[in-house]
Amino acid sequence: AKLHLLAQAAGKLYFGSATDNPELSDPTYVNLLSDSAMFGQITPGNSMKWDSTERSQGSFTFAGGDTVVALAHANGQLVRGHNCVWHNQLPSWVSGGTFTAAQLTNIVQTHCSVCPSNVFRYAWDVVNEPFNEDGTWRTDVFYNVLGAGYVTIALNAARSADPTAKLYLNDYNIEGSGAKATAMQNLVRSLKAAGTPIDGVGLQAHFIVGSVPPTLQTNIQAFIALGVEVAITELDIRMTLPATAALYNQQKTDYNTVISACKVLSGCIGVTIWDFTDKYSWVPNTFSGQGAACPWDVNFVKKPAYDGIVAGLS
Ligand code: G3I
Repeated sequence: AKLHLLAQAAGKLYFGSATDNPELSDPTYVNLLSDSAMFGQITPGNSMKWDSTERSQGSFTFAGGDTVVALAHANGQLVRGHNCVWHNQLPSWVSGGTFTAAQLTNIVQTHCSVCPSNVFRYAWDVVNEPFNEDGTWRTDVFYNVLGAGYVTIALNAARSADPTAKLYLNDYNIEGSGAKATAMQNLVRSLKAAGTPIDGVGLQAHFIVGSVPPTLQTNIQAFIALGVEVAITELDIRMTLPATAALYNQQKTDYNTVISACKVLSGCIGVTIWDFTDKYSWVPNTFSGQGAACPWDVNFVKKPAYDGIVAGLS
């Protein structure tokens, strides 16, 4: 049973994985990633971010992203573009710049026009992580200069550049109900009311073993009820190391829980794991002493988590 085929049989558009350009020099990795029965979609983990694509103003380079798109094309896989506007991984001319509202509007419009027209295939995370944990706006350069209107500027520019890309807002800790999820739902509601193009909400789903939010399914439904599609965009489920059989077993249960919640809701269109192997997971670099978050281990051996995904899709 391969995951993308199971996802399609369950009525989903795809099951996919993030990847990153440095990993593409690992032949064992590329062989597994290129199995389109397993992965029907890929997301570049870094190479479409602002600091990769527009390192100096107005000078666009798509080499890294295009490599991922070419691989996806060769394999018959969809691509999710990630991302246009985010507080992190910005070049210093953006994050440290002093701008008038007119100047930054122009900068956001240019960036969000050029990116989708060049590299999208299925969807774009147009705005990534706009909220703080308490549901207030993150005070990055975009919010500080433009207020919440930067989201509208970005979405309109992306839609004009490419009318067929699905335009997403994407964030973490909005998977279960709470202040941050409510803030995102209120944003979607107000964008819809204003006629701003918004097609989907991405729930990143960077979870901890044993801590999948119990309100996940009802909260996905609450997003869908606003008239947008939902995708699980960056799923992984980390643990405090060392991994044990008990932790792997709980992780299997947790993957099953997350996948099942998406499976039963037709408005939840697909699931992307934030890379498939622990060999290339972002987790140990960010959370010291934690890891083993992916369904394949560092030696590309499937863990019990894999069977949890299969169970969730079946
Ligand atoms: O490119 C430099 C390289 O030149 C340098 O030698 C090396 C040494 O540290 O760092 C390289 O940059 C790293 C970059 O990944 C590319 O590999 C950064 O240090 C590292 O912080 C960065 O991590 C990425 C992280 O986003 C940054 O926030 C992860 O790979 C990426 O998986 C992760 O993805 C994010 C999503 O975009 C948004 N949601 C959360 C998710 C996980 O953090």
